[in-house]
Amino acid sequence: MRAVAFFEYGPADVLRAIDVDPPVAGSGQVRVKVRAAGVQPFDTLVRRGWMPDAVPSMPATPGNEFAGVTDDGREVLGFTTLGCYAEYVVVPDDQVVPRPSNMPWEVAGGFSAAAQTSSIAMEQLGVGPGDVFLVHGASGSVGTVLTQLARLAGATVIGTASEANQEYVRMLGAIPVVYGDGLADRVRAITDSVTVSLDAGGHGSLDVSLELVKDRERITTIADFQRAPSLGVRMLRGERSAARLSKIVDLYAQGLLKVHLREVFPLEEAAAAHQTLESGHGRGKIVLRVA
Ligand SMILES: NC(=O)c1ccc[n+]([C@@H]2O[C@H](COP(=O)([O-])OP(=O)(O)OC[C@H]3O[C@@H](n4cnc5c(N)ncnc54)[C@H](OP(=O)(O)O)[C@@H]3O)[C@@H](O)[C@H]2O)c1
Repeated sequence: MRAVAFFEYGPADVLRAIDVDPPVAGSGQVRVKVRAAGVQPFDTLVRRGWMPDAVPSMPATPGNEFAGVTDDGREVLGFTTLGCYAEYVVVPDDQVVPRPSNMPWEVAGGFSAAAQTSSIAMEQLGVGPGDVFLVHGASGSVGTVLTQLARLAGATVIGTASEANQEYVRMLGAIPVVYGDGLADRVRAITDSVTVSLDAGGHGSLDVSLELVKDRERITTIADFQRAPSLGVRMLRGERSAARLSKIVDLYAQGLLKVHLREVFPLEEAAAAHQTLESGHGRGKIVLRVA
């Protein structure tokens, strides 16, 4: 089968399309013929060698979310840690859920990670009616889903993004604000009662959360892990699961959640997809079309 792999850690161009033997499903596992796979910041960290525990051997194939057809003909989407930039992936059979008929393959392939991360964040931060939720990086793949989940839960969302993505963030249901110098004052001009915050933007966004949110238990970051512990900021600890994924998939199936595809690349152009993701800017999700 065709797969994309790296033989050494490094920049995006260490990714190469290769031919390898397809994996075989063992007991309790399911094999999926992949139609589309999401491209994740996690994959770029793996490729750079920052997650050595996640890479058992070289060559290694990145990709931790996918959609495709099981050997017994079920259309599914799912999650794992590595291996999805390939024509076939094998995962435990409790790591797939049915693909709704109104969910395009590319959306399905890039759905799991942002959905699960957003769901865990909503739960652990306890976001609900009456909250004013500051989401840093609301235009990104996680921010896109999280903003909508928070609106559905009855919260007011203030979402940060670049100038170019202000209208996009408004369309997601948030009050848009431009990130960068002076952000805290721009938020204060909207409200002085931010109750909860998630940082998906990095670049010092966390400091603004600390300035505006009284309760540190209601601040988290998924982009500034190194500073979080010393600042007394909560780390997200939830588990990914099929049950969690199903709940968010249902929202999509009902038309309550939208996913914006930033760009779809053919499998063979995974290196270009990584370069685009590593620009750090864009709207929504980058996906590889596999078949
Ligand atoms: N995807 C996941 O499930 C997951 C899970 C755990 C952790 N994370 C981490 O969470 C972060 C976001 O992931 P993602 O997949 O949403 O990435 P993404 O799609 O690349 O989005 C990046 C976001 O950061 C914003 N941003 C760029 N420069 C910024 C700055 N100087 N200040 C504030 N915000 C800035 C971007 O806004 P503009 O595009 O408008 O510039 C965009 O909204 C990454 O650090 C990632 O490693 C992600």
